[in-house]
Amino acid sequence: MLSSENMPAERLTIHHLGVDSDAAEVKETDNQFAADVRQGLSSTPKTLYPKYFYDELGSQLFDAICLLPEYYLTRAEEEILSEHADTIVRAAKDIAPADDGGDVRLALMEFGSGSAIKTQRIIEAALRVQSELVLTSIDISVSALERAARVLLQLFPNLSLTALAGDYDAALDFLHDTQPHLAHDATHKDTARPRTLALFLGSNIGNFNYDEAIAFLRRLRLTMRDDDALLLGADLRKDPKILEAAYDDALGVTAAFNLNILVRINRELGADFKLENFRHLARYDDVEGSVKIYIESKREQIVHLKGLEMEVSFAEGERIHTENSHKYDHATLSAMARETGFDLAQTWLDHDAQFSSNLFVAGN
Ligand code: AVI
Repeated sequence: MLSSENMPAERLTIHHLGVDSDAAEVKETDNQFAADVRQGLSSTPKTLYPKYFYDELGSQLFDAICLLPEYYLTRAEEEILSEHADTIVRAAKDIAPADDGGDVRLALMEFGSGSAIKTQRIIEAALRVQSELVLTSIDISVSALERAARVLLQLFPNLSLTALAGDYDAALDFLHDTQPHLAHDATHKDTARPRTLALFLGSNIGNFNYDEAIAFLRRLRLTMRDDDALLLGADLRKDPKILEAAYDDALGVTAAFNLNILVRINRELGADFKLENFRHLARYDDVEGSVKIYIESKREQIVHLKGLEMEVSFAEGERIHTENSHKYDHATLSAMARETGFDLAQTWLDHDAQFSSNLFVAGN
């Protein structure tokens, strides 16, 4: 349960979206996890949603992935934001003049904030050109939100934070229903509303398939006003060897991250998956431009899920599909922007042109 204990309560507002108040992590009230696991393991081919990677251990393993030599994405995006954060903030402010003719104030909104290190670059840049800032942080992992809130509120005395603990769907519903009551609106009711710069970093968009990505961007656009903006981090297509190494590292951290979903099912649904009987697989599909991640059964076996009163049989070599990580090119990103009510205004790349940060401007 995310609490404001030892945090400046007057600068922190927390909303638990579909959260069991006694739980350490987000638990959908109707036990969506159990229903999704039942359905995913009953279908052919078997699937599990990647959002279930992020229990407490999964979130920490993902932080470790971001430090791996093979996982270039985080470093490349950090390089872009370290070098260009001021230009990005200026570009967002310069989209159009403020309604009241004064200086444009920005409010930030971050989806999937994770450890929030990259967010710091944008916060610093925004606070160089305005005296106060409101950030709305959305993450399914309560522990990740808590860690990020602690760090950010301590680092930035002029920052206020609204934390939304829940998945993106729940957050978009919430934003749609309550937008006028969020801190940045409530505190400036009578003056011009700040321009929202939404951040969707780390190529999180790549974990959606194309239709899901389009649906997400359209729903996000509906919560925005014309001239609000989205900074979208998107990993780029490249040599399959580099991509497969990024998702199957020598230390086995990504394998642990993937297999941890079985540990979670064992713990939360009383299952008896034996981890030594499964392996992690990452394969790049050059046609789709997507790294596909699976858990493969090493042998024929039956797994019992007591909590679901269910047995699941696996053939040798049978796979559970757990994640796609989509890779983009400029033309696709620009088409996605157009299809969802945005214009791709500007793109920044790291020095090796591995990763892109894209400014999508909400069009009219
Ligand atoms: C969170 N997301 C952007 C990561 C990615 O690169 O697709 C998740 C990940 N899966 C395995 N390694 C990293």
